[in-house]
Order: sequence, then C-alpha cells, then structure tokens
Amino acid sequence: MTNEPEYRPGLEDVIAAKSAISFIDGKRARLEYRGIPVEVLAKESSYEETSWLLLKGTLPTQRQLADFDHDLRQRRKLHYRLKDLLRTMPATGHPMDALQAGVSAMGLFHPSRSVKDPAANWDATLRILASLPSLVAAFARIRRGDEILDPREDLDHAANFYYMTFGHEPTPAVRKVLDASFIVHAEHTMNASTFTARVTGSTLANPYAVISAAVGSLSGPLHGGANEEALAQFEAIGSAANVKPWLDGKLAADPKFKVMGLGHRVYKVKDPRANVVQELAEHVFAETSRPKNYETALELERVAAGIYGPKGVYPNVDFYSGVVYQALGIPTDVFTPIFAVGRAAGWLAHWNEQLVGNRIFRPEQIFTGTVDADYVPLEKRP
Ligand code: ACO
Repeated sequence: MTNEPEYRPGLEDVIAAKSAISFIDGKRARLEYRGIPVEVLAKESSYEETSWLLLKGTLPTQRQLADFDHDLRQRRKLHYRLKDLLRTMPATGHPMDALQAGVSAMGLFHPSRSVKDPAANWDATLRILASLPSLVAAFARIRRGDEILDPREDLDHAANFYYMTFGHEPTPAVRKVLDASFIVHAEHTMNASTFTARVTGSTLANPYAVISAAVGSLSGPLHGGANEEALAQFEAIGSAANVKPWLDGKLAADPKFKVMGLGHRVYKVKDPRANVVQELAEHVFAETSRPKNYETALELERVAAGIYGPKGVYPNVDFYSGVVYQALGIPTDVFTPIFAVGRAAGWLAHWNEQLVGNRIFRPEQIFTGTVDADYVPLEKRP
C-alpha cells in the first residue's frame, strides 16, 4: 500500500469543485437547475428566466426579469468592427471556430477593468449572453452571402436568434422549441467545457477568454458534436423499415458497435432532455409533417431498447435534437453553436461561482520521463 494519489484518466470520479448550480440523478432521469427539474423549466420558463435562475440562484421577481430581459436586448448588437472581422473569416470555416474567435475578439472591444469588479462582471455576463446568438446568426448569414441583420428589440432571445438567422420570425411552435432547446442545453454539472471555463476563470482571465475557451472545448466531437453524427446516422439508415437490417448488419460486423445518440456516462435511463426535445419536436412536426429522419429515429429507439436497454443505454439529448434542428432549416454545422448559445448561461454561472473564494487550478501529474539527462552539444550528436 502506498499513499500515492490515484491517477484517474479523464478525472473520472475526481471532484473538481463544489457547486450549487445543477444536479443530476442518472438513475431517476433527473436534471435540476437550482433544484427545479429541467422539464418544468422547459415547459413553464423562458431561456431568459432560466439564465437568471442559474446565475443568481433563485427565480427572478417580475421586476428583476423585466430589467434583465431589457438589459439583454440592449446588448445584442455587435460592434460594427466585430461584424467586419466576421466578414473577413473564411466562409468555409466551421461556425464553432468563428464563434470562438468572435467571443474572444469581444474582449478587445469591451475590455474588462478587473474580474474583481462585480459590476463589470455582470455587464460582461449580460453582453456575452446577449451577443452569442448574434455572432452565430451573423456568421450563418455571411456564409450564405446574406447581409448581417440587426437584432430586433421586440423579440425575445429565441425568436430574435431565429430572426437574425433567417430574416423572418419563427412560428410560435418553432420559437418554443428553440427556447426549450436553449433551456435544456443551458447547464449540465461538471462537463468538459464547464470545467474548461472554471479552469480558465481560476486564472482571473477576462470573461471573454473564459467563454472562448469553453466554446473551444465544446467544439470537439466527443462533447458537442454527437447530434451531427446522430443525424448522419439516420440519413445513412434511410428509412424506419431499414433500421433492423441496418443494426443487425452493424452488430454482425462489430458486436460493440455504438449507436450515435445513445448512452450517457451519467444517465442509465432515457435522458430527460431527450424527452423534452422529442415532445416539442412533435409540436413542430404537427405544423409540417414528420420528417423521414424522425420516423427512422423513433424506430431505432424502439429496436435499440430491446438490445441495449438492459445495459442502461437509452437516447441522450443528441438523439433527437439534430432531427429537430434540421426540420427548422438549421445547417448541420450550426447545431453545436446552438448548443453553445444555450450553454453560455451555465458557463457564466460557473465562472461567477468559481470567482467566489477562487483558487487557481493546478493539478499534479505522474512524471513518466527521464530525469537528470545530459545536454549533448549539437555537433556531438549524430
Ligand atoms: N450504442 C451501443 N452500446 C453502447 C452505447 C451506444 N451508443 N453506449 C454505450 N454502450 C454500451 C457499451 O458498449 C458498453 O457495453 P459493455 O458493458 O458490454 O462493454 C456499455 O454500454 C457501457 O458503455 P461505455 O462506453 O463504457 O459508457 P461510457 O459512460 O464510457 O460512455 C458515451 C458514454 C461516450 C456517451 C457512450 O454511450 C457513447 O459513445 N455514445 C454514443 C455517442 C453519443 O451519443 N455521445 C453524446 C453524449 S451526450 C452529450 O455529450 C451531450
């Protein structure tokens, strides 16, 4: 027996922080923000109200919500030189890279005096929450060759994002699905991008650097990108009728084959967020028709439950979200930026929490290299 600290790859089960922001019970399909189940918030609340809840710890009064909403609407417009910067970016670049660069550049246009100034921190929190949708929408339009639109102060967060992206207002069902999607993606305990935000925040870096680092972390396919892959999978299957033969073929080739959008490290039942997205999707599809990919996804969920259910592998949030975004006309590579727009509230809540009693993150390592090596002059090396 030694007293050496144990090395846990991926920091699995290592406690990185104390947090009062969100709670998951993976066996009971429970995700709560400040004690309130996410399903309730998706149904009853708005992204603005949920953001306040995450940031401040309690539901806002009517007056607080009205002021918060007003303050956000005032800060949606991007600096004209930031728009110029977006226009100079390659249209073929990934929207997550544009978003990361855009948030980072905001630090140049709105320099924070010090993260020890609560008023400056609150102003930056508002500006980041308000501007992320504008950045995503602006780059989406530039890529299509369209002019960047100014935000509309008469529209809420979700409706304004849709308007700035497409140039027309969403239907009530589409607005609701986007708003709820932002809510269900807003926070999820100590995931990789949230941890990134806390680590960066712990150095007292400015908030734009904190969120830019978190966006970079979310951009990886192991974190934010599974909804794109789930959608590609439904397209490859082609139809509900082909689900069983497709899965049988995959399992024959590889008994450990992983279905995209299924399984979760924490949830051993269906992810509560998947249920919310699916229910709202049904409302949107009632206005159009059920897309083929949705029929395929439903059948895949049914068939997969019989095979993977005993292992506790069920749909996660990414299983249905891509199908819904596609039905809204959102390009595939903008799915993860939408995730980022929602998650901004959680990242900012964690940044604020980290700054209270902050201590810089500085973990240990197990050194596996050489010690006390000689420097061999270049002319003596082969
Ligand atoms: N399809 C089929 N079987 C699966 C799947 C899946 N998607 N996920 C897990 N399993 C099986 C594994 O093969 C393993 O089986 P075994 O016990 O017979 O070996 C068992 O379930 C446990 O799987 P692990 O990979 O150990 O689970 P882990 O918690 O490490 O991984 C993860 C979770 C990465 C999400 C995994 O389920 C996966 O790769 N899913 C597909 C990708 C995906 O949808 N990612 C999005 C996650 S949600 C999010 O990030 C917002």
